[in-house]
Amino acid sequence: MTQASNGPALPPTEEELSRARLKLAVEGPVARVTISCPERRNAMTGRTWTTLAHIGQTLPEDVRIVVLSGEGDTFSAGIDLGMFSPEGVDGERSMVAGLADGTSTEAEIQDYIAGLQEGFLWLRRPDLVTVAAVRGHAIGAGFQLALSCDIRILADDAQLCMKEPALGLVPDLTGTKPLVDIVGVNRAVEICLTARRVGAREAGTLGLAELVVASDELPGTVDDAVAALLATDREAATATKALLQQAAGNTLQQQAEAERVAQASRLAALARGV
Ligand code: CAA
Repeated sequence: MTQASNGPALPPTEEELSRARLKLAVEGPVARVTISCPERRNAMTGRTWTTLAHIGQTLPEDVRIVVLSGEGDTFSAGIDLGMFSPEGVDGERSMVAGLADGTSTEAEIQDYIAGLQEGFLWLRRPDLVTVAAVRGHAIGAGFQLALSCDIRILADDAQLCMKEPALGLVPDLTGTKPLVDIVGVNRAVEICLTARRVGAREAGTLGLAELVVASDELPGTVDDAVAALLATDREAATATKALLQQAAGNTLQQQAEAERVAQASRLAALARGV
């Protein structure tokens, strides 16, 4: 990440974004991140995800909503398959070359993947609401990116696919937990191990999409959702998202306590006029 001396971290430059196949537009409280490589169906590379992490680390403080989408008719065809070739992609390291020639260890690959996962993890931050606007294919890492968001709005032509096992791999970009949380382990096993495409309507039924709309209605529906989210008090939204995120892992008693703690804090803030 670029850091001015003693100053705040700087956001990625246009050149960095372009090399990462990303576009970023920040307007007041809304940041729009677009995966931008339509000629390769918005296939992504390691740099896409490290730059996504950089975007998350340097978002202006007043950003509350992040909308993720893909340029053109596809959300994303997942990892650029060139990443598995010995030469890698656009000067980026190959995922396999070092293991093949013995210059990388499995531990080093784990560290590398941890860096890539940072591009997905920040999308869960309680002070943000993240929205995936999905049209066309969301395959592999593309599906995992959509799963990392709080809200998925799908065009009716959307198709979700966890392709990794069909390629001899596992989904490793933080998608397995939200998938299981949403559909349960049995359906998740079926979806992943068949690597089948889940269409938009089925995704809606399974809870993998909060909304499914006609393709031409996608931008307007996303804008309406953003406006509705922005109408909610920011501090209350942040505290509520934090509360909801811990609910599944808590007992009822623990969650009741978490509610009390959060509410007392909110009431104190309201009483102070904050
Ligand atoms: N990587 C690199 N290039 C890709 C790509 C990918 N993932 N997906 C598509 N492209 C390229 C194609 O090679 C093609 O390039 P050329 O024009 O130079 O031939 C171009 O994009 C258009 O592709 P198609 O003609 O196939 O487009 P389509 O609209 O008919 O099909 C698609 C779209 C269904 C997404 C299909 O391209 C496809 O299945 N792509 C591969 C998907 C895939 O296997 N992704 C990896 C999943 S695993 C993962 O993401 C995570 C992990 O860690 C393993």
